[in-house]
Amino acid sequence: MIELKNVDKIYGKGDGAVHALKNVSVTIEDGKFTAILGKSGSGKSTLMNIIGALDSPTNGTVYANGQNLTEMSPNALAEYRNKTTGFVFQSFYLEPTFSVLDNVAMPLIIAGMPRKEREEKAIKVLTQLGLEDKINKKANELSGGQKQRVSIARALVHNPDIVLADEPTGNLDSQNGAEVMALLRDICNMGKSVVLVTHNMEDAKNADNIIFIEDGVAEMKSGNAVNSEANG
Ligand SMILES: Nc1ncnc2c1ncn2[C@@H]1O[C@H](COP(=O)(O)OP(=O)(O)OP(=O)(O)O)[C@@H](O)[C@H]1O
Ligand SMILES: [Mg+2]
Repeated sequence: MIELKNVDKIYGKGDGAVHALKNVSVTIEDGKFTAILGKSGSGKSTLMNIIGALDSPTNGTVYANGQNLTEMSPNALAEYRNKTTGFVFQSFYLEPTFSVLDNVAMPLIIAGMPRKEREEKAIKVLTQLGLEDKINKKANELSGGQKQRVSIARALVHNPDIVLADEPTGNLDSQNGAEVMALLRDICNMGKSVVLVTHNMEDAKNADNIIFIEDGVAEMKSGNAVNSEANG
């Protein structure tokens, strides 16, 4: 479980300072699908990056399974992040000229794993995601939907507890977008926590919990409560 308590994020100083998160207290429950829903500039990515320990708050505290991340050294935090989290982004961030296999195995290089083991793990997760026939293709030879599935494989290869996806369907057509959404739900059903950033209520609707964010102020509701409100 990840808990944010009274988190503020302020970018910059003085007159130009941007108060991107304002006294945010939310919980990411283990094994649940949590959506962060809000308009452009509302603070979604900032919040996701703090939940995933890619960034730290200006004020407030972040606990992961009771451990205070805001008191950890940068090295310890990097180690925590490499072990625990996997990220998926709108623009994929694949190495275009590397093979699918090498892209997916990349996080395991950081983890110091030998090549043979890295490749076995990458092949396993690519096969799970139905990408076994793409293993030797270069990333720049894939369609958008395939690229996003490869980037999801890369996010999963080190078996993280939590997968965080920032507008993962933003560059995809509706069919591929729906497939990526279904895949994220499958990943949640595998027992992982999934955090989805979206500006799309339709995508947020299927979440167990929804964090509504507006101008840096966040409010968390259960997906069931939101759906029954919507249905009158
Ligand atoms: N590195 C940064 N330096 C300064 N300001 C920033 C930085 N990152 C974000 N901001 C500002 O913080 C606010 C929240 O940004 P954030 O990227 O979290 O929004 P978002 O909801 O993810 O928007 P989008 O849907 O457009 O991606 C915005 O006003 C943005 O301009
Ligand atoms: Mg964003």
